[in-house]
Amino acid sequence: MKVRIPSPVYPVLAPILLERNIKLTIKRDDLIHPLISGNKWRKLKHPLAAALQAKKPGVLSLGGPYSNHLLALAAACHELGLASAALVRGHEQSTPTLAHCQALGMALHFVSRQDYRCRHDPDWLAQWQALYPDWLLLPEGGSAPEALTGVAELVAELPPGWDQIWTPVGSGGTLAGLVLGAQGQGEIVGVPTVKDAELPARIQGLLAARHCSHQNYRLLWGHEGPGFGKFSPAMGEAIRALEAELGVPLEPLYSGKLMLALWQAVESGELDGKQIVMLHTGGLQSLDGLRAQGRWPDA
Ligand SMILES: Cc1ncc(COP(=O)(O)O)c(C=O)c1O
Repeated sequence: MKVRIPSPVYPVLAPILLERNIKLTIKRDDLIHPLISGNKWRKLKHPLAAALQAKKPGVLSLGGPYSNHLLALAAACHELGLASAALVRGHEQSTPTLAHCQALGMALHFVSRQDYRCRHDPDWLAQWQALYPDWLLLPEGGSAPEALTGVAELVAELPPGWDQIWTPVGSGGTLAGLVLGAQGQGEIVGVPTVKDAELPARIQGLLAARHCSHQNYRLLWGHEGPGFGKFSPAMGEAIRALEAELGVPLEPLYSGKLMLALWQAVESGELDGKQIVMLHTGGLQSLDGLRAQGRWPDA
């Protein structure tokens, strides 16, 4: 598979950063691969290698109709010669993301929102797995404990001397992988993109599964906006303004929410004198869906 590893690290230049003596770099994981972008490649790398080694016929996973994870999984399986299937939240529909998944050979099963709430229930999952015996089952967002290894490897690609790594947080796997990779160095700041009371316990569970007792991370709540996959018009405008000012491509669900939170911290003075890494986790494909819904202006 042709991937750009190590992914590039670019400095961000803005007058306020100079004034405040903040060295901000962006780890552009969005440039790893056109479809298997960002944290998706990091999280899929080891589970898919294990699936190939174990001669699994395919991979079954779950996600929403605009899921970055499902598209990355479909593309990775297509390239590796593995079959793929997904349980998709909600009524049967076609979105740019799902159409792309199907074109890459992924079989889709639509599951009502109510049934989808059972996605962590082993009995419910077993019914679906019975349709795909011997396939690898990957949880939502690909955040299996084994997925943390690929994210942890990213830390060794960073320029030395960083004080904090900032990352968006959904299921928590990326943040946990960074904590695993940092081995107690610096601080990992996670910006949750959805209000989720179970998130702290899920992160702890992932770290415990990897026997990682480091706790040098923090969840910075308050930047989730109206909810998962949602953003207010004011947030959208502010994200587009930062995108134009800094010359970094952003989408409003992950990298945009992260950049808003980071910029607020820059302006508050709390990052003065620090060396900060912002992890760009990709997800720019979601702009196609947002544009199709009229929720984001055309490029
Ligand atoms: C583009 C993007 N960034 C960040 C995240 C959050 O990563 P995690 O689910 O590992 O917390 C996701 C997925 O959930 C994503 O699609």
